[in-house]
Amino acid sequence: MPYTLHRGDALTVLSELPDASVDALITDPPYNSGGRTSSERTGRTARAKYTAASAEHNLANFPGENRDQHSYGFWLTLLLTESYRATVESGTALVFTDWRQLPTTTDALQAAGWTWRGIASWHKPVSRPQKGRLKQSCEYIVWGTKGPVDANRNPVYLPGLYTASQPRKDRVHITQKPVEVMQELVKICPPAGTVLDPFAGSGSTGVAALREGRQFIGVELSDHYADIAEARLLETMQQTARREDFILAGPEE
Ligand SMILES: C[S@@+](CC[C@H](N)C(=O)[O-])C[C@H]1O[C@@H](n2cnc3c(N)ncnc32)[C@H](O)[C@@H]1O
Repeated sequence: MPYTLHRGDALTVLSELPDASVDALITDPPYNSGGRTSSERTGRTARAKYTAASAEHNLANFPGENRDQHSYGFWLTLLLTESYRATVESGTALVFTDWRQLPTTTDALQAAGWTWRGIASWHKPVSRPQKGRLKQSCEYIVWGTKGPVDANRNPVYLPGLYTASQPRKDRVHITQKPVEVMQELVKICPPAGTVLDPFAGSGSTGVAALREGRQFIGVELSDHYADIAEARLLETMQQTARREDFILAGPEE
Protein backbone atom coordinates (compact mmCIF):
# COMPACT_ATOMS: atom_id res chain seq x y z
CA MET A 1 0.00 0.00 0.00
CA PRO A 2 1.57 3.35 -0.98
CA TYR A 3 -0.16 5.13 1.93
CA THR A 4 -1.05 4.73 5.60
CA LEU A 5 -3.55 6.95 7.39
CA HIS A 6 -3.47 6.81 11.19
CA ARG A 7 -6.47 7.99 13.18
CA GLY A 8 -5.43 9.66 16.43
CA ASP A 9 -3.24 12.29 18.00
CA ALA A 10 -0.22 13.40 15.96
CA LEU A 11 2.29 13.40 18.84
CA THR A 12 1.28 9.92 19.98
CA VAL A 13 1.51 8.47 16.46
CA LEU A 14 4.78 10.28 15.69
CA SER A 15 6.41 8.86 18.82
CA GLU A 16 5.74 5.36 17.42
CA LEU A 17 7.34 5.98 14.00
CA PRO A 18 10.82 4.44 13.59
CA ASP A 19 13.89 6.69 13.41
CA ALA A 20 14.85 7.92 9.91
CA SER A 21 11.80 6.31 8.28
CA VAL A 22 10.42 9.25 6.22
CA ASP A 23 12.01 11.54 3.62
CA ALA A 24 9.97 14.73 4.05
CA LEU A 25 7.63 16.28 6.59
CA ILE A 26 5.03 18.36 4.72
CA THR A 27 2.31 19.59 7.02
CA ASP A 28 -0.37 22.17 7.69
CA PRO A 29 -0.92 22.20 11.48
CA PRO A 30 -3.77 24.03 13.20
CA TYR A 31 -2.39 27.61 13.24
CA ASN A 32 -3.93 28.55 16.61
CA SER A 33 -3.96 32.06 15.21
CA GLY A 34 -6.12 35.09 15.79
CA GLY A 35 -7.77 36.50 18.90
CA ARG A 36 -6.22 39.29 20.96
CA THR A 37 -7.39 38.02 24.34
CA SER A 38 -7.21 34.62 25.96
CA SER A 39 -10.98 34.17 25.80
CA GLU A 40 -11.09 35.14 22.11
CA ARG A 41 -8.34 32.61 21.43
CA THR A 42 -9.58 29.70 23.45
CA GLY A 43 -13.32 30.27 23.12
CA ARG A 44 -13.77 30.30 19.31
CA THR A 45 -14.00 27.24 17.14
CA ALA A 46 -11.85 26.77 14.03
CA ARG A 47 -15.04 27.13 12.02
CA ALA A 48 -15.77 30.54 13.57
CA LYS A 49 -12.16 31.69 13.15
CA TYR A 50 -11.51 30.70 9.57
CA THR A 51 -14.92 31.13 7.96
CA ALA A 52 -16.41 34.49 7.01
CA ALA A 53 -19.66 35.12 8.88
CA SER A 54 -21.47 35.39 5.56
CA ALA A 55 -20.16 32.08 4.18
CA GLU A 56 -22.78 29.42 3.65
CA HIS A 57 -21.41 25.90 3.96
CA ASN A 58 -21.73 22.91 6.18
CA LEU A 59 -18.04 22.06 6.57
CA ALA A 60 -17.27 20.48 9.94
CA ASN A 61 -15.28 22.10 12.70
CA PHE A 62 -11.86 20.62 13.54
CA PRO A 63 -10.01 20.24 16.87
CA GLY A 64 -6.68 21.65 18.12
CA GLU A 65 -7.24 25.37 17.51
CA ASN A 66 -7.46 26.72 21.07
CA ARG A 67 -3.95 26.77 22.52
CA ASP A 68 -2.61 29.97 24.02
CA GLN A 69 0.48 31.40 22.36
CA HIS A 70 3.04 29.90 24.77
CA SER A 71 1.52 26.43 24.64
CA TYR A 72 1.36 26.57 20.86
CA GLY A 73 5.09 27.27 20.59
CA PHE A 74 5.99 24.41 22.96
CA TRP A 75 3.58 21.97 21.33
CA LEU A 76 4.79 22.76 17.81
CA THR A 77 8.39 22.30 18.99
CA LEU A 78 7.54 18.84 20.36
CA LEU A 79 5.89 17.88 17.09
CA LEU A 80 8.76 19.10 14.98
CA THR A 81 11.23 17.33 17.31
CA GLU A 82 9.50 13.96 16.88
CA SER A 83 9.22 14.57 13.12
CA TYR A 84 12.95 15.37 12.99
CA ARG A 85 13.79 12.05 14.64
CA ALA A 86 11.56 10.19 12.16
CA THR A 87 13.15 11.90 9.12
CA VAL A 88 16.25 10.72 7.24
CA GLU A 89 19.48 12.75 7.21
CA SER A 90 19.18 15.61 4.64
CA GLY A 91 15.39 15.15 4.69
CA THR A 92 13.16 18.23 4.48
CA ALA A 93 10.45 19.89 6.57
CA LEU A 94 7.81 22.18 4.99
CA VAL A 95 5.44 23.68 7.57
CA PHE A 96 2.48 25.92 6.66
CA THR A 97 1.70 28.92 8.82
CA ASP A 98 0.14 32.39 8.66
CA TRP A 99 1.64 35.85 9.29
CA ARG A 100 0.84 35.81 13.01
CA GLN A 101 2.49 32.46 13.69
CA LEU A 102 5.45 32.91 11.35
CA PRO A 103 7.95 33.89 14.14
CA THR A 104 6.77 31.04 16.42
CA THR A 105 7.01 28.53 13.58
CA THR A 106 10.55 29.51 12.55
CA ASP A 107 11.61 29.37 16.23
CA ALA A 108 9.97 25.96 16.78
CA LEU A 109 11.56 24.52 13.63
CA GLN A 110 15.03 25.52 14.77
CA ALA A 111 14.47 24.55 18.41
CA ALA A 112 13.51 21.08 17.15
CA GLY A 113 16.91 20.71 15.47
CA TRP A 114 16.07 21.52 11.83
CA THR A 115 18.28 23.92 9.88
CA TRP A 116 15.96 26.72 8.76
CA ARG A 117 16.41 27.27 5.00
CA GLY A 118 13.76 29.82 4.09
CA ILE A 119 10.12 30.80 3.62
CA ALA A 120 8.01 30.16 0.53
CA SER A 121 4.63 31.85 0.00
CA TRP A 122 1.25 30.53 -1.04
CA HIS A 123 -0.57 33.44 -2.68
CA LYS A 124 -4.39 33.32 -2.68
CA PRO A 125 -5.60 35.78 -5.33
CA VAL A 126 -9.27 35.67 -4.32
CA SER A 127 -8.71 36.55 -0.65
CA ARG A 128 -10.99 39.15 0.92
CA PRO A 129 -10.02 42.86 0.60
CA GLN A 130 -10.11 44.70 3.97
CA LYS A 131 -11.04 48.36 4.18
CA GLY A 132 -8.15 50.55 5.43
CA ARG A 133 -5.75 47.59 5.55
CA LEU A 134 -3.34 45.64 3.40
CA LYS A 135 -4.94 42.46 2.11
CA GLN A 136 -3.82 39.24 3.85
CA SER A 137 -3.44 37.27 0.66
CA CYS A 138 -0.60 34.89 1.56
CA GLU A 139 0.08 31.95 3.81
CA TYR A 140 3.67 30.81 4.32
CA ILE A 141 5.67 27.63 4.10
CA VAL A 142 8.57 27.62 6.55
CA TRP A 143 11.15 25.12 5.39
CA GLY A 144 14.29 23.48 6.65
CA THR A 145 16.45 20.39 6.41
CA LYS A 146 17.86 17.79 8.77
CA GLY A 147 21.51 18.67 8.35
CA PRO A 148 22.95 19.60 4.95
CA VAL A 149 20.92 19.78 1.72
CA ASP A 150 21.78 16.81 -0.50
CA ALA A 151 20.99 18.21 -3.96
CA ASN A 152 22.34 15.10 -5.70
CA ARG A 153 19.72 12.92 -4.02
CA ASN A 154 16.88 15.03 -5.44
CA PRO A 155 18.09 17.54 -8.07
CA VAL A 156 14.92 19.67 -8.30
CA TYR A 157 14.48 23.42 -8.82
CA LEU A 158 11.30 24.47 -7.03
CA PRO A 159 9.63 27.90 -6.96
CA GLY A 160 9.31 29.97 -3.79
CA LEU A 161 5.91 31.41 -4.73
CA TYR A 162 2.75 29.43 -5.45
CA THR A 163 -0.41 31.17 -6.66
CA ALA A 164 -3.66 29.19 -6.52
CA SER A 165 -7.11 29.27 -4.97
CA GLN A 166 -9.07 26.43 -3.47
CA PRO A 167 -12.49 26.96 -5.11
CA ARG A 168 -15.21 27.22 -2.45
CA LYS A 169 -17.52 24.84 -4.31
CA ASP A 170 -14.93 22.01 -4.23
CA ARG A 171 -13.92 22.53 -0.62
CA VAL A 172 -14.33 19.61 1.81
CA HIS A 173 -12.22 21.07 4.67
CA ILE A 174 -12.33 24.56 6.21
CA THR A 175 -8.60 25.19 5.67
CA GLN A 176 -8.02 22.93 2.66
CA LYS A 177 -4.85 23.43 0.62
CA PRO A 178 -5.04 23.22 -3.22
CA VAL A 179 -3.72 19.89 -4.50
CA GLU A 180 -1.96 21.70 -7.38
CA VAL A 181 0.18 23.60 -4.83
CA MET A 182 0.82 20.45 -2.82
CA GLN A 183 1.83 18.57 -5.99
CA GLU A 184 4.66 21.07 -6.49
CA LEU A 185 5.71 20.94 -2.83
CA VAL A 186 5.89 17.14 -2.57
CA LYS A 187 8.59 17.21 -5.27
CA ILE A 188 10.99 18.19 -2.47
CA CYS A 189 10.72 14.50 -1.47
CA PRO A 190 12.81 12.22 -3.73
CA PRO A 191 10.73 10.09 -6.18
CA ALA A 192 9.25 7.00 -4.46
CA GLY A 193 10.25 8.46 -1.07
CA THR A 194 7.86 8.89 1.87
CA VAL A 195 6.02 12.11 2.76
CA LEU A 196 4.72 12.50 6.35
CA ASP A 197 1.76 14.77 7.21
CA PRO A 198 0.75 14.53 10.90
CA PHE A 199 -2.23 16.91 10.31
CA ALA A 200 -3.72 15.32 7.22
CA GLY A 201 -7.14 17.03 7.32
CA SER A 202 -8.93 16.07 4.10
CA GLY A 203 -5.75 14.41 2.79
CA SER A 204 -4.56 17.02 0.25
CA THR A 205 -0.85 16.33 0.94
CA GLY A 206 -1.43 12.60 0.54
CA VAL A 207 -3.38 12.99 -2.72
CA ALA A 208 -0.52 15.12 -4.08
CA ALA A 209 2.12 12.63 -2.90
CA LEU A 210 0.38 9.68 -4.58
CA ARG A 211 -0.14 11.62 -7.82
CA GLU A 212 3.57 12.45 -7.88
CA GLY A 213 4.73 8.89 -7.20
CA ARG A 214 5.64 9.37 -3.55
CA GLN A 215 4.46 7.25 -0.58
CA PHE A 216 2.42 8.84 2.19
CA ILE A 217 1.97 8.56 5.95
CA GLY A 218 -0.79 10.73 7.41
CA VAL A 219 -2.34 11.28 10.83
CA GLU A 220 -5.74 12.85 11.52
CA LEU A 221 -7.52 13.28 14.86
CA SER A 222 -11.01 14.08 13.58
CA ASP A 223 -12.89 10.96 12.45
CA HIS A 224 -14.97 13.11 10.12
CA TYR A 225 -11.90 14.41 8.28
CA ALA A 226 -10.09 11.04 8.46
CA ASP A 227 -13.07 9.49 6.60
CA ILE A 228 -12.79 12.19 3.90
CA ALA A 229 -9.01 11.76 3.63
CA GLU A 230 -9.36 7.96 3.42
CA ALA A 231 -11.86 8.27 0.55
CA ARG A 232 -9.71 10.78 -1.37
CA LEU A 233 -6.56 8.67 -0.94
CA LEU A 234 -8.30 5.51 -2.10
CA GLU A 235 -9.76 7.26 -5.13
CA THR A 236 -6.34 8.73 -6.04
CA MET A 237 -4.66 5.35 -5.71
CA GLN A 238 -7.27 3.78 -8.02
CA GLN A 239 -6.88 6.60 -10.57
CA THR A 240 -3.09 6.23 -10.46
CA ALA A 241 -3.34 2.44 -10.93
CA ARG A 242 -5.72 2.89 -13.91
CA ARG A 243 -3.32 5.39 -15.49
CA GLU A 244 -0.38 2.98 -15.04
CA ASP A 245 -2.41 0.09 -16.57
CA PHE A 246 -3.28 2.34 -19.51
CA ILE A 247 0.36 3.29 -20.07
CA LEU A 248 1.53 -0.34 -19.83
CA ALA A 249 -1.26 -1.89 -21.94
CA GLY A 250 -2.07 1.01 -24.26
CA PRO A 251 -5.64 2.11 -25.12
CA GLU A 252 -8.30 -0.61 -25.65
CA GLU A 253 -9.15 -1.33 -29.31
C1 LIG B 1 -5.14 22.99 9.03
S1 LIG B 1 -5.95 21.47 9.00
C2 LIG B 1 -5.18 20.57 7.66
C3 LIG B 1 -5.94 20.72 6.36
C4 LIG B 1 -5.29 19.96 5.23
N1 LIG B 1 -4.03 20.56 4.82
C5 LIG B 1 -6.21 19.85 4.02
O1 LIG B 1 -5.86 20.33 2.93
O2 LIG B 1 -7.30 19.30 4.17
C6 LIG B 1 -5.31 20.70 10.43
C7 LIG B 1 -5.91 19.33 10.73
O3 LIG B 1 -5.25 18.80 11.89
C8 LIG B 1 -6.19 18.05 12.63
N2 LIG B 1 -5.69 17.96 14.02
C9 LIG B 1 -5.83 18.86 15.01
N3 LIG B 1 -5.20 18.45 16.12
C10 LIG B 1 -4.63 17.25 15.82
C11 LIG B 1 -3.83 16.34 16.54
N4 LIG B 1 -3.47 16.56 17.81
N5 LIG B 1 -3.41 15.21 15.92
C12 LIG B 1 -3.77 14.96 14.62
N6 LIG B 1 -4.53 15.80 13.87
C13 LIG B 1 -4.96 16.93 14.46
C14 LIG B 1 -7.50 18.79 12.48
O4 LIG B 1 -8.60 17.94 12.69
C15 LIG B 1 -7.41 19.33 11.06
O5 LIG B 1 -8.10 18.50 10.15
